[in-house]
Amino acid sequence: MANSQSSQPIGVFDSGIGGLTVAHAISKLMPNERIIYFGDTAHLPYGDKSPELIHSFVQSISKFLIRKENCKAVVMACNTASATSYEFLRDKHEGNFPIINVIDPIVEAIVSDNSIKKVGLIATKTTVESGVYQEKLNRRNPELEIEVLATPLLAPMIEEGFSQDKISHTVIENYLSNPKFKDIDALILGCTHYVLIADEISEFFDGKVKLFDSTDILASKLKVILDNENLLSDKKEKRNKFYVSDLTKGFSESASRFYGENLVLELNKID
Ligand code: DGL
Repeated sequence: MANSQSSQPIGVFDSGIGGLTVAHAISKLMPNERIIYFGDTAHLPYGDKSPELIHSFVQSISKFLIRKENCKAVVMACNTASATSYEFLRDKHEGNFPIINVIDPIVEAIVSDNSIKKVGLIATKTTVESGVYQEKLNRRNPELEIEVLATPLLAPMIEEGFSQDKISHTVIENYLSNPKFKDIDALILGCTHYVLIADEISEFFDGKVKLFDSTDILASKLKVILDNENLLSDKKEKRNKFYVSDLTKGFSESASRFYGENLVLELNKID
């Protein structure tokens, strides 16, 4: 039977608009769920910030989503925030309601696939330096070979709309031709933006490398968690909301591309 909180929304946040790819996957899989999205565009990018600073951003955003918007669960739709601040946020809320990060579902999917012997990770500098993917993967499968590479040019390139063109081909080739990635069986797209260039990355590897990103894998995991807690909503009563902490023309124009449907961003300076 549905829990009394089941009609409350799901909070989804990211440093910017990349997490809209995750929000869309959730909405597609669970159309009865209402989403409150928060993109911290005033503080973007998180990918080159210190863990301490990211903690403070995450704390304000979660307070907004939980206290003000009354969310029943919070999805950290940002690899960098998940890498630096998941344990911090989870411990703070002491299991009162689900906090889901984008890293654990990908780790789970990789270690469950016995055909993967060598995996690559591309992500922001902070995610790579945190060592979280490496540690979680190796804890579950010490035999797995892991190669990581920070790819800081990709997120701004995607945000500026470069894909399937000369610039994106050059940048992608430059990063992925790194000898580290020779013979990988799988590649983790460890940043929520990268989903938008998944096809190009797949073409680079002639479709021979399995790609793992945080959209459908996370949405499926979230559905299981909500179901186990009797938190699945059976009716959507209000529309999704998409807030950002700084609203520019550029973000507004890119947002619908990331979400895959038209949407309107609203400014909300939460502090
Ligand atoms: N969305 C962030 C992530 O998934 C990347 C963008 C940023 O650096 O803020 O890691």
